[in-house]
Amino acid sequence: MRIDILTLFPEAVQPMMDASILGRAAKKGLIEIHCVQIRDFTENKQQQVDDYPYGGGWGCVMMAQPLKSCLDWVTEQAGPRKRRVIYLSPQGARFDQGHARRLVSEYDHLVLVCGHYEGVDERFIEACCDEELSLGDFVLTGGEIPAMAIADSVCRMVPGVLSDPACYMGESHWDGLLEYPQYTRPETWEGLTVPEVLREGKHREVDAWRREQQLKRTMERRPDMFAAYAPRTPEEENIIARLTGREKLTYDCRPATEADIPDLLAITGEASAYLRENGVDQWQDDFPNESVFRRDIAAGNCWLFTHDGKPAGCASEYFTPEPDYPAIDGAWLTADSAPYATVHRVAVKAAYRGRGLADEMLQLCEDLAMGRGYGSVRVDTHADNRPMQALLERRGYKRCGVVTLSETIEHDPLRVGYEKVFA
Ligand SMILES: C[S@@+](CC[C@H](N)C(=O)[O-])C[C@H]1O[C@@H](n2cnc3c(N)ncnc32)[C@H](O)[C@@H]1O
Repeated sequence: MRIDILTLFPEAVQPMMDASILGRAAKKGLIEIHCVQIRDFTENKQQQVDDYPYGGGWGCVMMAQPLKSCLDWVTEQAGPRKRRVIYLSPQGARFDQGHARRLVSEYDHLVLVCGHYEGVDERFIEACCDEELSLGDFVLTGGEIPAMAIADSVCRMVPGVLSDPACYMGESHWDGLLEYPQYTRPETWEGLTVPEVLREGKHREVDAWRREQQLKRTMERRPDMFAAYAPRTPEEENIIARLTGREKLTYDCRPATEADIPDLLAITGEASAYLRENGVDQWQDDFPNESVFRRDIAAGNCWLFTHDGKPAGCASEYFTPEPDYPAIDGAWLTADSAPYATVHRVAVKAAYRGRGLADEMLQLCEDLAMGRGYGSVRVDTHADNRPMQALLERRGYKRCGVVTLSETIEHDPLRVGYEKVFA
């Protein structure tokens, strides 16, 4: 991984990048981090990099020319690579561990452009940058601190930089949870003792304790993450049920009729709001709507789940091939000619989230498909819908590729296709 940081203050940034773990990794040749002085690429005598903003206003704006010349030089130095040019900006997408994972897995050259003063001429951003990332909802004097943060979080995931991938895979934000509390010697410090389970050295019990602590901490400190977390094992489900006092409920299920459409829309309406709150751009364009449910019901494929007579969730299942699936960017597990069922519109009312309903609905759809002698079930979901993906993966579905929905009214037609083959 090569990272070039384009900055007016290389002398402030380079020492930080050369210190500690990253410095050792650079010496071993695992990473290269270069801080490049933008001012060296000016074409005026005064080496001026900024000027007054058109239209008036406070401060100065960094000019496009020195930035572009600096970027061209860096690009030439690095040669052909899988490159991503990123402008650090408080207006960009908020950087998180998911961005870091994407950057380290998809690119081998990052160019991080640090603005200063009032920012950068918009034309440079439009013409030369692939994306904008923000460190958070606050404004700094320059992009240097965000650039260092991004470079650090990306580089520590480059193979070999840390002694073992387990070092970062168990950490906060890796799988949607915060890390458990950590302790080191001495056993007792200022009257506070390390929890007994950690001192006994029974690995299974330590693992179980740590998982519970992770879930508990996430619930207490980051309710947003906890709400989006789909348990991966029955043990986790039990822990969550215990922590939240939300044990699994029992549900009734029946084919929906047209009279149920208001309830179906209320269920998917709550699911759309949940997706929106969690930054998932799915079901935000009046979809699923009444006509979709009319079609599902007419096909006899729409299931309404109730608890104590109250609507709790719904799912639709089709037993005919999906017209958009053969063109997957990837590969399904089974041939398109082999009969498969497809599950759509899996939605749970807020009051029943985390109480075993989504699992029960998928189980029903899988049982129905198996009962008809079908060999597999397919589902598509949005790339950002991590809770759904985690649920599918936990149930043995495999990620197969990207499908484009040609007839959807949603503005983002790309979906990730999953398939589960029955043993
Ligand atoms: C004072 S800021 C400019 C802010 C800009 N006028 C605005 O209101 O959006 C100067 C530079 O600091 C960097 N910067 C400031 N806050 C940032 C943040 N939260 N994330 C990433 N970069 C930031 C950007 O590179 C920006 O060009």
